[in-house]
Amino acid sequence: MKFFVDTADVEAIRELHDLGMVDGVTTNPSLIRKSGRDIHEVTREICDMVEGPVSAEVVALKAEDMIAEGRKLAEIADNIAVKVPLTWDGLKACKVLSGEGKMVNVTLCFSANQALLAAKAGATFISPFIGRLDDLNIDGLDLIADIREIYDNYGFETQVLAASIRSANHMSECAKIGADVATAPPGVIKAMANHVLTDKGLDAFVADAKAAGIKIV
Ligand code: G3P
Repeated sequence: MKFFVDTADVEAIRELHDLGMVDGVTTNPSLIRKSGRDIHEVTREICDMVEGPVSAEVVALKAEDMIAEGRKLAEIADNIAVKVPLTWDGLKACKVLSGEGKMVNVTLCFSANQALLAAKAGATFISPFIGRLDDLNIDGLDLIADIREIYDNYGFETQVLAASIRSANHMSECAKIGADVATAPPGVIKAMANHVLTDKGLDAFVADAKAAGIKIV
């Protein structure tokens, strides 16, 4: 499973990138706002650092305006994936932009039917939102499994990009289901390293090393 980082915080991306943990980046208008930076400037900086796809989201609502914005965003770098919302206009924009050879990430997906439409419209990625479904007491992981099954049934090449990931558990569950990509905030990716038994075991090793006077260098 590929790891995308869901942030526009360049330093946070760099830390994970230096560890080889970053296969791509996803941003959205809320993350750009949080960064406090200009979308073109920060997106270019991320694209210069990361080789894989960097999703940059349109803000228009009408297909023709989304297409114009998508073309502009795609000029930033070759690894831009234009992100469009899963609306009828977004699907039209997806069809046109993917037809031009651009990567398209269709976002705000909350149902298997929406994912089917995105695949038919030529999406490179479909972004089902797990956490926001969980917030409504609907199991978001079930949606990932449904989309995986449907895409496999028909050989759709659209990649399942699990989004709105809120916990380390979501990451391993997505990997078990077979999501192609999971995008998560830096804190969730770092939390994957944590285990209470690791901490407990390390405490014991440190105490014994001290008691035994072990010195290695
Ligand atoms: O990039 C979109 C998605 O990952 C947003 O997550 O936590 O705002 O639901 P969240």
